[in-house]
This record gives sequence, structure tokens and C-alpha cells, in this order.
Amino acid sequence: MPDAVIQTSHLRKLYGDKVAVSDLSLSVERGEVFGFLGPNGAGKTTSVKMLLHLVKPSGGEGFLFGQPLSEPMVRRRVGFMPEHFRFHDWLRGEEFLALHADLYHMEKGLARKRIAELLDLVGLRPHAHKKLGEYSKGMLQRIGLAQALLNQPELVILDEPTSGLDPVGRRLVRDIIRDLRQRGTTVFLNSHLLSEVEITCDRVAFIKHGEVIRISALQTLVEGELSVQVRARNLLPEALQGLERWSRNVRLDGENLTLTLASEADLPEINRYLVEQGAEVYALRPQHVSLEDLFIEIVGTDGGL
Ligand SMILES: Nc1ncnc2c1ncn2[C@@H]1O[C@H](COP(=O)(O)OP(=O)(O)O)[C@@H](O)[C@H]1O
Ligand SMILES: [Mg+2]
Repeated sequence: MPDAVIQTSHLRKLYGDKVAVSDLSLSVERGEVFGFLGPNGAGKTTSVKMLLHLVKPSGGEGFLFGQPLSEPMVRRRVGFMPEHFRFHDWLRGEEFLALHADLYHMEKGLARKRIAELLDLVGLRPHAHKKLGEYSKGMLQRIGLAQALLNQPELVILDEPTSGLDPVGRRLVRDIIRDLRQRGTTVFLNSHLLSEVEITCDRVAFIKHGEVIRISALQTLVEGELSVQVRARNLLPEALQGLERWSRNVRLDGENLTLTLASEADLPEINRYLVEQGAEVYALRPQHVSLEDLFIEIVGTDGGL
């Protein structure tokens, strides 16, 4: 094990006879931004709760920083932003952060400085004196994020950090994650939404029905396949067949031809081939397969329920 921050082996959670997480084995290295992606009900939150010892596993084992999940001291090094949080409505933003700084036993002066920094970071400085009860969902999410970063954790676990956010908020989360990565912080990101935030991940695991069905470097996933849209007239059926040399996946819909390629390098040759076959090519547009397409391809459209 090189330098695993999270290491789990066959972690499992049953609620009665309902399997929430069936078999979770994974390892997250120091400094990695790890995306844990899957539809609603797939078992992401339950997995995170086991990592944080908020839920006791029914089987298997896990380690944070090489220590068993049940070891309380290990949680000093972790920041957590829960999915559904109920904050104290009557506390002001600033007071809420101060309360959490107290829970971490942070020294008062240091806490004040850190809280001011974080309020700036999440854009809540002007609302620091408002009560949480008056915060919008997006603002609560921002203060939740600030709370997760208070103790300058080595591992930050974010459960659906963008679900209540508008595009500006999502960009903020993305930038914060990039910043954390630059500082060498490990990030574990749960999400059922595929936005630009997930694009910041180094590796992603796809989970469905409580089981990890694929773990891969994001780069290889997203850059591996290319989808090419061709608009052409006079495309003969024989010409289409010939395209199978380059692509297993050729679809024609009127003038629009879609094919998937392993590499961009094939494009000039395909263009030449089509012209030789008598086609009139109006457009040839390559695009990388989006993470969202991959998500559907890997997880399916039936959701996790
Ligand atoms: N406390 C609980 N009691 C019973 N079932 C639960 C409980 N928590 C989660 N589940 C069930 O476990 C499955 C996984 O839930 P969850 O981990 O919240 O998924 P996700 O975070 O991926 O949406 C779901 O079917 C959910 O209904
Ligand atoms: Mg969840």
C-alpha cells in the first residue's frame, strides 16, 4: 500500500435485509481527487458514513491514514460536508463556524483568522452576521463547505457538494477542489450530478446497487473515446460498411452520420475515404465523449433504485 489515505476491503452495510452497500473495496492515495459517482440510492452516502464511523459496517474493514475507521483521533484530520445537513437555524454564519472551530479545539485567535479567510473563500463575508435560518440552500451549502475546511484537513469528504448550487456556486466548488488539490489535500467527492466539478477528479469510481462497477482514471475515461458527427450527402450504404475499418459504431440518420473512434488520427483518412466514395462532406466534428454519456453507458438509464 503506497500511501493510502482511504483503504477499504469488502465493506458492507445492510439495513435489515436491505443491502445499502454490498462490497466496497477501494483505495484512495494521498493528494488524489477521487470521484464517487452513481445514481440516487446507489450507496454513496452510506459508504461515506462508514468511512466516518457514523454508521457501523455490517462486514468488511476500512482504514483512514492506515488507522481503523473506529479510531476517533483519525477524524481530526478529516473535513466532512454532509449531504443533508440540519444546521442550527438561530446561529449566525460566523457563530456557526466558531462553534465548529471550538469542537476542533482550535485556538481562538487562529479560529478567528481562519473563519474570516473561509467566509471570503466561499463568498459569504457579507452574510456572516445573518442567521442560518435566513440562508438560502446555496448559502447553506457554502457555509457547509467552509465548515468542512476549518481544520485544514488532510482529507476532505464532500457528499453531493453541488446539488443545491447554481452555476456560479458549482464553479466555486470546482475552484476550491482545484485549490485543495494544489495543496496536496485528498478529496473524496460523492456525486450523482455530473458537472464540471466531476471533471476535476483524478480518478472516478462508478457505483450502482451498492457495488463499485468501474474504477478508472478520469483522463483515460474521457479521452479514450471520440465521437464524430459527420454531415454528408450522397452517402452510399457500401461506403458505410467500409467505415467499419475505423469504427465499430456507425449510425446514419438522414444526412447525419455518427461514429466513435479510438483516436483523432483517423479523421483525415476517413474524410478522404468518404470523398472517394462519392459523398459530399459538409461537416466533420469530433468531440470527446462526455462524462455524462459515460455515466449513462456504465451505470445505465434505470437509475440505482
Ligand atoms: N438508515 C437507513 N435505513 C434503511 N435504509 C437506508 C438507510 N440509509 C440508506 N438506506 C438505503 O440504502 C440505499 C443506499 O442509500 P444511500 O447510501 O443514501 O445512497 P446514495 O447516497 O447513493 O443516494 C438506498 O436504497 C437507501 O434507501
Ligand atoms: Mg447520498
